[in-house]
Amino acid sequence: MSFVGKHAIVTGAGSGIGAALSRALADRGAKVVCADIDGSAAESVAAATGGVAVKLDVTDAVAVQRTVDDVLDRAGRLDFMFNNAGIFWGGDTEKLSLQQWNSIIDVNLRGVVHGIAAAYPVMIAQKAGHIINTASLAGLTAAGQLSSYVATKHAVVGLSLSLRAEAAAHGIGVLAVCPGAVETPILDKGAVGGFDGREYFFRGHRTSRGYPPDRLAADTLRAVEAHKALLVRPARASVAWMLGRLSPTLLNRISIGYVERQRRSQQSPASRG
Ligand SMILES: NC(=O)c1ccc[n+]([C@@H]2O[C@H](COP(=O)([O-])OP(=O)(O)OC[C@H]3O[C@@H](n4cnc5c(N)ncnc54)[C@H](O)[C@@H]3O)[C@@H](O)[C@H]2O)c1
Repeated sequence: MSFVGKHAIVTGAGSGIGAALSRALADRGAKVVCADIDGSAAESVAAATGGVAVKLDVTDAVAVQRTVDDVLDRAGRLDFMFNNAGIFWGGDTEKLSLQQWNSIIDVNLRGVVHGIAAAYPVMIAQKAGHIINTASLAGLTAAGQLSSYVATKHAVVGLSLSLRAEAAAHGIGVLAVCPGAVETPILDKGAVGGFDGREYFFRGHRTSRGYPPDRLAADTLRAVEAHKALLVRPARASVAWMLGRLSPTLLNRISIGYVERQRRSQQSPASRG
């Protein structure tokens, strides 16, 4: 499969993984619409990659449809839909407001649904295309204090694998990208009630770094070429996934350890290294 001259939309393109996907696609000769709720972030990524910037809130189904329609008007086709925009909440579940629950469902799940509702019929008519949904390792395993995030990402994995089964007959591929911690600004966002993402994800090794987004983007495009169903990165994320499948009890015990460590660190923030 070649990306040269192909038309792609990337949501959440203004930062992190979405920006890296936009760069990787542009490097391979694709024409990219960089869409983000942060219009100026979308513009800087589009300017650096020769793409088109769109200020887009993926929770707005009409706006997502308009973004797809604009590509069709301009290019006559849409080859790749990257439903990547996402937000994160970390912390004790009882501290999450209903507004926070709704916001994460709206962005992480409904945002993907809106992308599929707009792009999939176009791809069916073309008899070709690829839908790439950024889920997470959290879509394959359970993790205490990440319940809202885990719920939305499980939904995205289930949606992607189900759609993949019926899309194949139309010549359309579907991939769910399931990374562990990736070094992007999201790691420092979404803290509820003193939660510390870096402390949590790197088990106290706060100077550790996540998987590089540009490597994940390159892996993702290779997984698209290989028509993979799931991409799990880095290798230790695959180990966690397999462990959870082999022994949910052990996964639960490990998850309890993460929660206990996080609570200890919240009680004594001075001890953070
Ligand atoms: N970084 C990680 O460790 C990691 C791991 C697994 C999965 N993910 C997933 O990867 C995706 C990208 O996250 P990232 O790590 O690059 O984070 P990020 O915060 O760097 O980027 C997310 C982007 O999405 C945009 N966005 C947020 N809400 C939006 C909305 N309603 N409409 C349009 N754009 C919106 C933000 O403005 C931002 O530019 C997310 O779905 C996230 O859940 C991230």
